[in-house]
Amino acid sequence: MRGFVRRALEKLSKLDGEQIEQLLQTVAAENERLAVVLDSMNDGVLVTDEEHRLILVNKAAERLIPLASGRIIGDRPVWQVIADPDISDFVQTSLENDESVSDREFALDHGGVTRILSCSLIPLVQAGHIRGNILQLVDISEKRGREARLRRAESLASLTTLAAGVAHEIKNPLGSIGIHNQLIQKQVSQLEPAEAEPINAYLAVINEEIDRLNKIVVDFLFAVRPMDTNLEDGDLNALIADMLGFVQYELEQSGIELIRDLDENLPQLKIDPKYFKQAVMNLVKNAISAMPDGGMLRVSTQTRGDQALLRISDNGIGMTEEVRDKIFEPYFTTKDFGSGIGLTLVYKVVKEHMGDISVISKEGHGTTFTITLPLPQREKHLLGWKGDS
Ligand SMILES: Nc1ncnc2c1ncn2[C@@H]1O[C@H](COP(=O)(O)OP(=O)(O)O)[C@@H](O)[C@H]1O
Ligand SMILES: [Mg+2]
Repeated sequence: MRGFVRRALEKLSKLDGEQIEQLLQTVAAENERLAVVLDSMNDGVLVTDEEHRLILVNKAAERLIPLASGRIIGDRPVWQVIADPDISDFVQTSLENDESVSDREFALDHGGVTRILSCSLIPLVQAGHIRGNILQLVDISEKRGREARLRRAESLASLTTLAAGVAHEIKNPLGSIGIHNQLIQKQVSQLEPAEAEPINAYLAVINEEIDRLNKIVVDFLFAVRPMDTNLEDGDLNALIADMLGFVQYELEQSGIELIRDLDENLPQLKIDPKYFKQAVMNLVKNAISAMPDGGMLRVSTQTRGDQALLRISDNGIGMTEEVRDKIFEPYFTTKDFGSGIGLTLVYKVVKEHMGDISVISKEGHGTTFTITLPLPQREKHLLGWKGDS
């Protein structure tokens, strides 16, 4: 388009009226287009001529920095048009010293909110000559805010990792204390009953305290990384059926028979479907890999007292006691390509649902995971009321 205009201008004297009109229309259309482009930009643009007078300004620039009132185009040096003294000074100094500057930052008050502006001065070069300058203004407040949030999140995450590391380290000596406690118990069992009894009572207290500490540490480890669970009324059976649909093919391929035993009278439970489905899926996946030669997967739900129970059983390879004690720990895996975080997530999801998880496993026989979830308060009241009448 521009080439066409230039060529037309070169032979302007030879053009007739109609052609000149067409040329003017083309130029006007292009002008209009450029103005629209400039005004659609989020960045502010101010263009000056060789004498530093403002020759072009877009809408964003007028929005981003306060400009002097009255006629601003072509009248006076651009720094006299810019009302903010800091930016005005910066522009004057840079232009008078012929400096190009990139990303100089200024804080501006925008109706009580501080906005950060990044200003750059770029020479306007035309046919190898500097014809003026472009002052570019970019509002980087959002970006700065995001960076600050990210920094805070990172430092929080590293603090969390540190705390989790310390908690993890506490578990080892605790385990050792527990073992020695058992050794003492063994020795004590050889004493006279009258002598052994008080010592055993003390040892029982120590054992209890060890368990308590262990639970605190484990809970802490999972609590430090918050989850954005969103509990809503949900049908656990439907969720399970849905999830089993996903693995049906895999079960068939692995020669695993599926037995569903879902309690149809299970009330609605407070569930985050996304997380809970993931948790159940992790358990089922583990069960599948525990049965490399096929087997039986049993999934059952039932209510017991004020709790709902979800059981996932397999008759696979099972676990040793030593493995079982570690399975919920982050990164613990016995698989060549395991991540060791599947059950960590399961544990955390269950805790987020105010529930509990337990495991029974026998090497060579199989494993059963039981998740208990609280029934909603409403149900309990209803039962209580029925009982009273
Ligand atoms: N159903 C199961 N049968 C036998 N072992 C299991 C079962 N579920 C989990 N495990 C053991 O727990 C470990 C941790 O499981 P998980 O956290 O899901 O990590 P991953 O599956 O990546 O190894 C497994 O490596 C395995 O040793
Ligand atoms: Mg797993």
